[in-house]
Amino acid sequence: MGVTSLSAIAAVGNNFELGYKNQLLCHLPADLKWFKKITSGHPVIMGDKTWESLTIKPLPNRQNIVMTLDKAAQFQNCDTAYSIEEAIALVADDEEAFIIGGATIYNLFINKINKLYLTKIQSNFEADVYFPKVDFSRWVLKEDLFLPKDEKNIYDLHFQTYELIEY
Ligand SMILES: NC(=O)c1ccc[n+]([C@@H]2O[C@H](COP(=O)([O-])OP(=O)(O)OC[C@H]3O[C@@H](n4cnc5c(N)ncnc54)[C@H](OP(=O)(O)O)[C@@H]3O)[C@@H](O)[C@H]2O)c1
Repeated sequence: MGVTSLSAIAAVGNNFELGYKNQLLCHLPADLKWFKKITSGHPVIMGDKTWESLTIKPLPNRQNIVMTLDKAAQFQNCDTAYSIEEAIALVADDEEAFIIGGATIYNLFINKINKLYLTKIQSNFEADVYFPKVDFSRWVLKEDLFLPKDEKNIYDLHFQTYELIEY
């Protein structure tokens, strides 16, 4: 059994907004491309509500793991985990696995991840779910790619990668 590195990936507004009415904040093709590039070939762990919100499921070329507390729930063409421990056990042989949301699932794993991919959308949004508070003094910014807005991606974007400082 190898050692799995747990990462989280999310796109957030200026106030760490995540979504509204079980949808993403906005449509950003550049961020979808980034998400696909970073997560392809790796397992992705998500909550039931995020799974429901996907238009294409399972996400192709990735082991999809859906978390639920409902033992009777049925999800097609994916694995199901009923606890943090079960989700971690399912990815035990992979080098890097991704927590892909939503808010509830980021909260469950925020103290277990050591890498964070944050797309910072340079705008404020109406939201009903937020990314958990992060103590950025414990994280180092390793990469910050800026993409100016254009006709397809209507907000300036920063693709940031943080790593947890090991003490
Ligand atoms: N901006 C981004 O990058 C991003 C990424 C992903 C999602 N989102 C947004 O986030 C929102 C959804 O977030 P959310 O917090 O409402 O839902 P969620 O995190 O996707 O799913 C929550 C569900 O997870 C299950 N769950 C909770 N605790 C659990 C545990 N300990 N063990 C196993 N399963 C557990 C429950 O499912 P049951 O009810 O079935 O028991 C719960 O309803 C949407 O607006 C979505 O668009 C944004």
